[in-house]
Amino acid sequence: MKKTFIIGYPKGGVGKSILTWNLAIAIQQQNIKVRVADIDFQQTTFFANKLRAVTDKELLNIESIHDIQDLEEFLNADFDGITFIDIGGYDTELNRLALQSADNILIPYSSDPTEIIGLLTFGKIIEQLEIDMSKIKVFLNQIHSNTKKIEIIKEKISKSYPFFLNSIIRRNNDIKLSIGNGLGVVELTKKNNKAKLQIEDLANEIINLKG
Ligand SMILES: Nc1ncnc2c1ncn2[C@@H]1O[C@H](COP(=O)(O)OP(=O)(O)OP(=O)(O)O)[C@@H](O)[C@H]1O
Ligand SMILES: [Mg+2]
Repeated sequence: MKKTFIIGYPKGGVGKSILTWNLAIAIQQQNIKVRVADIDFQQTTFFANKLRAVTDKELLNIESIHDIQDLEEFLNADFDGITFIDIGGYDTELNRLALQSADNILIPYSSDPTEIIGLLTFGKIIEQLEIDMSKIKVFLNQIHSNTKKIEIIKEKISKSYPFFLNSIIRRNNDIKLSIGNGLGVVELTKKNNKAKLQIEDLANEIINLKG
């Protein structure tokens, strides 16, 4: 099962790190090998793993990578599992190499106007890098729990980004806060853990995507 995923695109604050973190934990829970290349200078997932070291949970395999040669070596290393690359919210050569290397680029989308603009700019990068559009899949993130008009939200970008995942991640405080304790939402022991079910759905959808 060799598959490489990027959650997000080069725009700040769309949920790249928080979702990479939660998905990596959810997939590792299924006894599937997971590794993460954290190539953002903020090192969100890399440091979250340091917080995890004081919990009783198994650490994630997260490497902090800052140059092209190291990323190439990381990606070429023998690894039979799922690789996530947590990219930064800006356009760099390193991010471009990551985008070109990914089997799937999964775009969290909340229909915020700045995201629509960000996706237009990303369209130019996709064109320049000649990335096949079928590798790019959008899923809804940070959608309010009351929002039902999913098709209307999708419509706004479906001409430019025609491929969608079915899973929807709602805006949820457990998703926001659990990383601060080194945990994923799937590990929270609470009743009615809606975020857990949503992250598990997305994880399963990802595992079953073609690599
Ligand atoms: N489904 C969600 N529910 C609640 N909060 C969310 C959700 N998705 C993202 N967020 C919040 O949005 C903010 C940005 O998320 P995150 O840091 O993962 O984005 P990013 O794309 O990695 O940003 P950057 O480009 O700065 O690396 C965080 O506060 C995060 O907790
Ligand atoms: Mg980030």
